[in-house]
Amino acid sequence: MEKRRDRVKMFLFAVVLLFAFETISGCDYPTFKNTSVTVVGVRGVDKISGCLEPDGALEKASYIQIINQSIPVLYSGAIRNLPNLVDAVLDNNGIIEINAGAFYNLPKLQLMRLENNNIEVLKNGVFNNLMIKELHLMNNSISVIDQGTFNHMPQLTILNLDKNRLSNWNGDWFLYTPTISNLSFKSNQLKHIPKGAFRNLKGFHIIAGRNITTNINFDDNLIETIDPNALEGLNVLGWLFLSKNKIRELDENLLDPLENIDWLKLSFNQLSCVPDKIIEKIPTVTRYIDGNPLSDYCRAKIFR
Ligand SMILES: *[C@@H]1O[C@H](CO)[C@@H](O)[C@H](O)[C@H]1NC(C)=O
Ligand SMILES: *[C@@H]1O[C@H](CO)[C@@H](O)[C@H](O)[C@H]1NC(C)=O
Ligand SMILES: *[C@@H]1O[C@H](CO)[C@@H](O)[C@H](O)[C@H]1NC(C)=O
Ligand SMILES: *[C@@H]1O[C@H](CO)[C@@H](O)[C@H](O)[C@H]1NC(C)=O
Ligand SMILES: *[C@@H]1O[C@H](CO)[C@@H](O)[C@H](O)[C@H]1NC(C)=O
Repeated sequence: MEKRRDRVKMFLFAVVLLFAFETISGCDYPTFKNTSVTVVGVRGVDKISGCLEPDGALEKASYIQIINQSIPVLYSGAIRNLPNLVDAVLDNNGIIEINAGAFYNLPKLQLMRLENNNIEVLKNGVFNNLMIKELHLMNNSISVIDQGTFNHMPQLTILNLDKNRLSNWNGDWFLYTPTISNLSFKSNQLKHIPKGAFRNLKGFHIIAGRNITTNINFDDNLIETIDPNALEGLNVLGWLFLSKNKIRELDENLLDPLENIDWLKLSFNQLSCVPDKIIEKIPTVTRYIDGNPLSDYCRAKIFR
């Protein structure tokens, strides 16, 4: 009797589990509603509803493009379990929110483009553990990036967040994401570059057999101050773009951690001069200090 009751209990438990799994793996929140889509690798799919998943023919999809549609929220599971997907382009769709798990189990995905949307927050759990190499988020409304957003992205090389509303930089970003070689945050509202801002990144990479140095673009922000130890942890750098900011002063030891830097651009700031020690390290900087209120003494010293 006892044994039988146990068996019944086990059976009921299994049924409950099964249902629980059904709900987790089902497409509970339909992200797409008769949305126009261009798919490469599959014939005859031009409208989708629910989630993008291998139902029907999508298993072979290698490229998915959705442009000029209305998709306010990318819900969890929006694009998932597509074993052959390489590129996902989701530009100009009025996307405001992306929920954790929106992109799930996409083992071959290399490029994700979400340009010209209205995304406000980059949450933890949206991009983590994706094997993508390029993430393009230009022209959104991003003002908040959760601390773990870019952690554990072991192949990420290009990250573009130009034309957003970010005002704070966090040196704790990019944990276990050391392969970024092109970091672009042009036209944001950054005010300060803190100590160890890039300490989780590397300045030098060998990508496809080529030596590549890291480029960092902070042009057209509101940067007033740069911590003297901002570059701590890097030992080389390609380009460091700081034009069109409000920098008044550079610490003479700023470039000390670097053995080499290819270019430093400081045009259109509020500098009255550039420390000798910086000019010694990178003499070409004098070509990129136009548009600053340099003192006469400084001009005489630099352009003599
Ligand atoms: C989907 O959109 C097409 C036009 O683009 C329309 O003909 C069709 O009826 C729509 N289907 C549904 C289910 O709304
Ligand atoms: C999207 O809309 C823009 C502007 O309305 C237009 O120039 C572009 O061709 C459209 N792209 C697609 C793929 O529909
Ligand atoms: C930025 O995105 C908006 C849509 O959110 C679009 O209307 C605008 O044209 C885009 N700007 C640029 C410069 O592409
Ligand atoms: C890397 O960044 C620089 C400066 O922002 C840009 O000009 C260049 O096109 C980028 N390269 C790639 C491959 O995205
Ligand atoms: C690339 O970098 C490696 C390691 O620093 C160096 O030994 C090699 O000479 C470099 N190759 C080129 C082509 O610069």
